[in-house]
Amino acid sequence: MDSVKERSVDEVVSTILGKYNQRHHLMRILQEVQSNYGYLPREALEKISQSTGIPLSDIINVATFYHQYRLEIPGYYIFLVCMGTACHLKGNQDNYNVLRNTLGIKKGNTSSDGLVSVEKARCFGCCSLAPVMMVVSRDGCERYLHGNVDIKETKKLALTYRSMASKKVRSGE
Ligand code: FES
Repeated sequence: MDSVKERSVDEVVSTILGKYNQRHHLMRILQEVQSNYGYLPREALEKISQSTGIPLSDIINVATFYHQYRLEIPGYYIFLVCMGTACHLKGNQDNYNVLRNTLGIKKGNTSSDGLVSVEKARCFGCCSLAPVMMVVSRDGCERYLHGNVDIKETKKLALTYRSMASKKVRSGE
């Protein structure tokens, strides 16, 4: 990811639309916007609509239909909990629930302090490590894979990443 903090939404979206600007590219465009911001800012969706002529309502329909897109800003770290068959059979639904409980997430996907989000994900392709969860930073610069996680380890990971997120946010990262 480049220095998105220093570039306006307008500039970021214009760069993306310089590569893809047809209606059939919409999913690709949204993926690139999300990889820059960790979610899809409303301003970016409006800019895409103005520049491509795709109605904003159509863009929002696509963004809400597919789980891969986020319309709300996520926590600094995002737990992606694999719900593929192997991970599901080995207890990742329980791990998912433990993450939410440990982080006090009752509604939506993000803790009330805004530090950590928990989402379900598809198979990561490393099923021999099931159950698996991936933790990514909102800016996409950090990515950690955790395999063979049990409930005890899941609780520890939740607390560790919340503490790391808190330090990063306090230091202005
Ligand atoms: S089912 Fe979880 S990594 Fe494949």
